[in-house]
This record gives sequence, structure tokens and C-alpha cells, in this order.
Amino acid sequence: MIPIIPTVLVIQNTPTTVTPGRYTVYYGPVINPYSLTYFDALPNCVVVVDGKGNIAHLIEKLDVTSLELQKVLLTQIGLLDGTFTLVILEPGEFIMPGFVDTHIHACQFPNLGLGSECELLDWLKYYTFPTEKKFADKDYAARVYPGVVERVIASGTTTSCYYGTLHSDATMLLADIVRSKGQRAFVGKCNMDRAPQCPPDYIEPSAQVSLETTKRLVEHIQNLPQSPAGEPLVHPVITPRFAMSCTEELLINLGNYAKTNPHIAIQTHISENQQEVKDTLKLFPDCKTYAGVYDKYKLLRYNTILGHGVYLTDEEMKLIAEKGAGVAHCPASNFYLGSGMARVRKLLEHGIKVGLGTDVSGGNDPSILYTIQMASTTSKMVAILPNEGGKKFDTAMLLYLATLGGAEVCCLQDRIGSFKEGKAFDALLVSVRDDSGNPAIWGYNPGRDLIGDDTLKSAEKMLKEWLERFFFCGDHKNIRQVIVQGAVIGGQEFQG
Ligand code: GUN
Ligand code: FE
Repeated sequence: MIPIIPTVLVIQNTPTTVTPGRYTVYYGPVINPYSLTYFDALPNCVVVVDGKGNIAHLIEKLDVTSLELQKVLLTQIGLLDGTFTLVILEPGEFIMPGFVDTHIHACQFPNLGLGSECELLDWLKYYTFPTEKKFADKDYAARVYPGVVERVIASGTTTSCYYGTLHSDATMLLADIVRSKGQRAFVGKCNMDRAPQCPPDYIEPSAQVSLETTKRLVEHIQNLPQSPAGEPLVHPVITPRFAMSCTEELLINLGNYAKTNPHIAIQTHISENQQEVKDTLKLFPDCKTYAGVYDKYKLLRYNTILGHGVYLTDEEMKLIAEKGAGVAHCPASNFYLGSGMARVRKLLEHGIKVGLGTDVSGGNDPSILYTIQMASTTSKMVAILPNEGGKKFDTAMLLYLATLGGAEVCCLQDRIGSFKEGKAFDALLVSVRDDSGNPAIWGYNPGRDLIGDDTLKSAEKMLKEWLERFFFCGDHKNIRQVIVQGAVIGGQEFQG
């Protein structure tokens, strides 16, 4: 037998809601990211999740049968039989932190896969703004948004930074839906009052209205029910769409509002496309750089999430690092719209926090798995460019960007992104077994794989291979459970 496999296999599904006082114990392979260069692959790990959905205990290495496990739980942790649900992973399964998507437009799903012939500014004009303006109709939003959030969750994203449209009613509805489905998220409505950069049929009537509707949305989100752990699950985020969409008056208003609310996050786009950078500098002639525009209006700070950053200069990177802002690396979108390739290693070398963003529908796939693949491709392309260099990304780097790096960008690194006692249990239960039904994965198949060299591989090495296969060949079929704050909210076996 392969050493990774516990000898007794009893699978019980976790409850879909957390019952206070009741624990869920996971036993099996666990992937735990630490840094840009290192992660733990723990073939026989125990994670004890309490009734509030937080990690109560983490035992990194425990080689026992499930019967002995019960004894350990009693003697080491004091858990009585009956007070916990035991989930023992099958061979070919593992647990990892849930994906963090630091940049996604919920309102652009109806546009997925369209417009790849355009670059950013034409794409906004001909595809995106016409799609987004439909959300003026709240009934339309009510028909679209539930499916959007379900798809995002099914893709394995446990935390999303959502952009809505400029409409506060539709965006409130988006926040309600996200909360009711149990996902962790940031939700913002776009601020856009500048003509002719915003078209006449998709623009806010004034800077004042833009600010007032933003405040309404923030208040609405802050009044949503808290998680079982007694903290918000959905957060508001101030969302000046990008500098070009905002008048000076609006940026001043938003900067002042942000200043009086230092804990509210800010999200926007920066230096995504060459024409966009040129136009921005023309519109703000007293600012030397694009990042300088956001800084001038007090919108660049520790909890600012900057989408793209493809054309940031060294000077801008220094400024962003100094302010503590993070970058959402959106490689799928940067290829899809032909924007360019972000210099992620350079960003990291400057000390900037970096996470991944799908940027649907500038990006053509809502899955962070696809984004991981595109981040890998970007790093390989950049590495072979003259005068660039830098190493291509390995699994540790990709894992970090998709989980703990994203958590840092959201300033949630103390709660999510990795497994540690006291942190929230936001996780994926992944299966790379043949019976997961994804033909792209040469999955674990007990009947076939018991014979041959693979049985001689160390359990840790095999687990690392499972992660790599999942990253490069996996899809939603390989995600059995999506767990947020201890509760199963999606995945192949979820019956919502
Ligand atoms: N810049 C301003 N708005 C957008 C948007 O919706 N998507 C992308 N990719 N870039 C933007
Ligand atoms: Fe975007």
C-alpha cells in the first residue's frame, strides 16, 4: 500500500452549515503555503475545525489508523466521540487553502469570451459598457448575479474582490447574494462620472451622486449578517473604476471619504494598457505618473488593490511599495486583451504584495486555476525576454500568489490564505482521482496505480505532484468541496 493512504476509509460529508460547538476533523493530505518559495506538503495531517469555522488544532504529521485517530483526538485535544464529524480523505484527495481572486467583475459574465479582437479602450466601449448598463434593471441583476456567484464558488474561489456596475441597487443585490451563498468577498460599485470617457448612457449624473450612492452601498454591506466567527464575511470596497472614468471632483470626494474610513478597502485599475496610460497622463497633466494620480487623491494606501500594473515604472513601484498597496496580477486578461505582461518578479522585489485576479471578462475564464496557468506562462515569457531575465514561477510561487499572496493583498492574511490555529478554515477539498471525471488529469486510480514505480515515491513527493497536476490540468470537476469559514458552500458534492 502507498504510505499516504490511511488504512480505514470512512467518508462522511461535512455539514453545509456550521453547528456551534460541533467540530469537523479532516484527516489526510494537506497543502499549506508559507512564502513565495516554500509550502508544506503534509501527507498525514489533522485539521480540527471548530463550530465557528475556525481552525482549532493543526497536527502536521500523524500516521495512524482512523481508530487510533479517535484516541488521539480524545487524549490530545479532548474531543469526545460524537462531538465531531470525521472526514477522512481518500487516496488522490487533498486539502488546500481556497483561492483568492483579487480582481473580478461580476457584471461582466454575460460578456465572457467575447471581444478578444479589441484592446482595452475599444473593448470597454463596444462590449463592456453596453453589457454593464443593463444592470440599471434590478430584475436583470436578480436573474444574472446568483449564477455568477455560484460559478465563481464552483471554480474554487473562496474570496472574491468583486466589481459591480455603477448602479448601487444592483450592487447591493450582488452583496446580498454573495452573503447568502456564504462566500467571503469585497463588493464595490464603480465610480464613473467623467465624459466622454464614460458614454452618455452609462455614466453617473454627478460626483456628488457617485459619492452618495457609494456611501449607501457601504452602509448596506456593513449591515449584512456577520459570519459565525462574529466578523464580516462581505466587505465594502471603494471602487473608482480607473482614473480616466473619474472627474477631479469625484476623486477628491472619494479620497476624503476614504480618509475618514481608513479600514475600507479601495480597488481600481492601473497601467493596464499603453493607450490607457497615455490618455491618463494627458487627463491629469500635473501628475508625473499613473500611480501618482491615485496618490494625489489619497487613494493609494495599505488596503488599495491595484488591478494589472503591466506598465508600472520603477518609480511607481517604489511609491506603491511605500504606500503598502497590493497588485492584482491578471495574466489571462492581459493576454486576452493584448495588454502586455506584468513584471511580477519586479513587483515582488520592490516589496509589493501580489495576488492573482481573473479579471472576468477581460479575462476569459472565472477560474483561478486558469489564471495560475497564465501566470506561469507570463513568467516564462518574461524570463526569456532580453533585458528582463528572472526565473519562471515554480509551484510554490503559483500557490502563494493564488492563496496567501491574495490574502495579503486583501489585508486578510491573518484570517485566510493558509492553515494555522486561529485562522478561518477557507479551503478546497481537491480530488485528482480518475473518478473525478476530468479527462485532462492523469489521476490517481487505485486499481491501476498500485503496480509500478509510483508506489515507491514518497508520500510527500506524490502529494506535490497531485497539486501540480491540479494546477495545470485541473478544473471544477476536481473540486469536491469549497469551504468558507468551515461551511461547505460549493464543489462537486455540494447540494445547495
Ligand atoms: N479598466 C477600466 N475598466 C476596466 C474593466 O472593466 N476591465 C479591465 N480589464 N480594465 C478596465
Ligand atoms: Fe478589471
